[in-house]
Amino acid sequence: MSKQKANIAILGATGVVGREITKIVDELKIEFNTIKFLSSAKSAGTKLEFQGKEYTVEEAKPESFDGVNIVLASAGGSTSQKFAPEIVKRGGVLIDNSSAFRMEKAVPLVIAGVNNEDLRLHKGVIANPNCSTSQLMLVLEPLKKFGIKRLIVSTYQSVSGAGLAAINELRDDTKANLNGEVFENKCFKKPISFNIIPQIDVFCDNGYTKEEMKVVNETRKILHLDESVKISCTAARVPVFRGHSEAVDIEFEQEVTPDEVREILKNAYGITVIDNPDNFDYPTTRDADGVDPVFVGRIRKNLAFDNGISLWCVADNLRIGAALNTVRICQKVIEMELY
Ligand SMILES: NC(=O)c1ccc[n+]([C@@H]2O[C@H](COP(=O)([O-])OP(=O)(O)OC[C@H]3O[C@@H](n4cnc5c(N)ncnc54)[C@H](OP(=O)(O)O)[C@@H]3O)[C@@H](O)[C@H]2O)c1
Repeated sequence: MSKQKANIAILGATGVVGREITKIVDELKIEFNTIKFLSSAKSAGTKLEFQGKEYTVEEAKPESFDGVNIVLASAGGSTSQKFAPEIVKRGGVLIDNSSAFRMEKAVPLVIAGVNNEDLRLHKGVIANPNCSTSQLMLVLEPLKKFGIKRLIVSTYQSVSGAGLAAINELRDDTKANLNGEVFENKCFKKPISFNIIPQIDVFCDNGYTKEEMKVVNETRKILHLDESVKISCTAARVPVFRGHSEAVDIEFEQEVTPDEVREILKNAYGITVIDNPDNFDYPTTRDADGVDPVFVGRIRKNLAFDNGISLWCVADNLRIGAALNTVRICQKVIEMELY
């Protein structure tokens, strides 16, 4: 007999990622018994429409998780840390977007379609990777068979990766800049309009930022790469509302040609290849806005490495980088009856 349909809660439903999760639960036709929408006290009482029905957003409290089987959370690390024990104690599964649990040994860090089997190891909490790692995993998984030896990633990340307040800051700073007015930036350490900021998250002792180290450590965990694989990342914030772009240089153990990579990626899960420079066909950040694929182009032989390939990839950070993967994980948890 198959399991009873799940009771689902969306925690952080009024945020940038939470709204996208809500949309995708509908798009992917996730089957549920009941669904509820949770936020902090600030947005509690907000009305939202979902599948033709009006729901009232409730303030998240421990009791909110009574009888809930699956929680899709995007409410920040401290909120997830506060509620995780309450959710697990009540028998629920937390699928979490924050970085709070990603590197914990007992917590599977999963990209649906890349390492689904890791889901079976969950003990109540499943983590969704950082947005810049997520899009990269779908590209690297089908190429892993050539033996990844070294990886260098440079990211160009949009402001929506930093939430609603950051989106507003880019808009307001741009207007102020064009009108010659003074603008006081709050979300970012430097002005974001007409600028590129080489800092995302705080600096670590080794001179890398936390965001850069997320790419390094999460890539290793998801692809099960050992310490002998050298990985480096530089992450920059760019004045783009939505969509992250990445320049990726990979050194492989075995020789592989750009044509082979192009062919493999054309047939890979979640990837769309746009790669005909003669015709100026390559993906730009705007191509990814609001859609699911990770777009790859500019596939070429890397001149600095033996057996090296360079490529460019763009994706919607709010979808594959957060909400889409969260809901795809939920879909897998339901299919694999892991709740
Ligand atoms: N944006 C991205 O691309 C991205 C990608 C990957 C992961 N993430 C992660 O996802 C999380 C949310 O990001 P976001 O961009 O959606 O942020 P956001 O737009 O600021 O939304 C935050 C959401 O969390 C809720 N919340 C805040 N404190 C809460 C509390 N104490 N109890 C219950 N709910 C609370 C907020 O409710 P109120 O409306 O009541 O304030 C809101 O619904 C963060 O952990 C972020 O790191 C974001």
